[in-house]
Amino acid sequence: MQRTPIIAGNWKMNKSLQESVAFAQELATHLANVAGVEQVVCPTFLALAAVADALKGTSIAVGAQDAHWEAQGAYTSEVSAAMLEGIAQYVIIGHSEVRAYLNETDERVNKKIKAALAYGLKPIVAVGESLEQNEAGETESFVSGQVRAALDGIDAANMQNIIFAYEPIWAIGTGKNASGEIANQVIGGTIRATLASLYGDAIAQTIRIQYGGSVKPDNMAEYMSQPDIDGALVGGASLKVDDFKKLVEVAAQQKGG
Ligand code: PGA
Repeated sequence: MQRTPIIAGNWKMNKSLQESVAFAQELATHLANVAGVEQVVCPTFLALAAVADALKGTSIAVGAQDAHWEAQGAYTSEVSAAMLEGIAQYVIIGHSEVRAYLNETDERVNKKIKAALAYGLKPIVAVGESLEQNEAGETESFVSGQVRAALDGIDAANMQNIIFAYEPIWAIGTGKNASGEIANQVIGGTIRATLASLYGDAIAQTIRIQYGGSVKPDNMAEYMSQPDIDGALVGGASLKVDDFKKLVEVAAQQKGG
């Protein structure tokens, strides 16, 4: 099964409005000739519309870092999926930092995915275990539980528009990346297997699943050479043009075409 690889840069709370636009423009000139890989950047909400404008007509799509499930209302500080319609194409949902610092729950993740789909956004759903869970041998049951909870009530017809990202919490921003083999094991053996048990193997084989957590130009090939890993969700290395470009190029070499 040939799945188009997808590399998404999660800028987190980095770059001012001006820096975001300038960075996006520079990235677009550097990535103009790379085909066969979907490229996404996820700026802060502040810069999202301006970056989307700057990237119009380029091969780079724009994603939000979160989205509320209600269309509008008394939810101070929030931005809804409805408001992102027509501006962003993707939205990260359930990032471990949102789960840890902003009280994100599996139930809210599920509602946000449904709202994103309703407004034409493609959710990038982040799942992953903590170091304690990993050391206690709970990775499989925990991650599988997160996937099931995220997809509660979502039918097979929507699955082509959902992307998963396996991000072991102990590997995010720590420089301690999971080995390609271990990441592939969780992505294929746990996440894709869970998707297969929910929707059947044929559908599971078409769903893209990224790895995330300290992905860098020098370890990208290790991930992209794994059969079940379909790209990367990248924090730190997405903030430098040269690094992000290399990640996209490695994905194109190993998975493209
Ligand atoms: P990192 O972040 O690449 O800096 O580890 C990944 C993420 O949080 O999505």
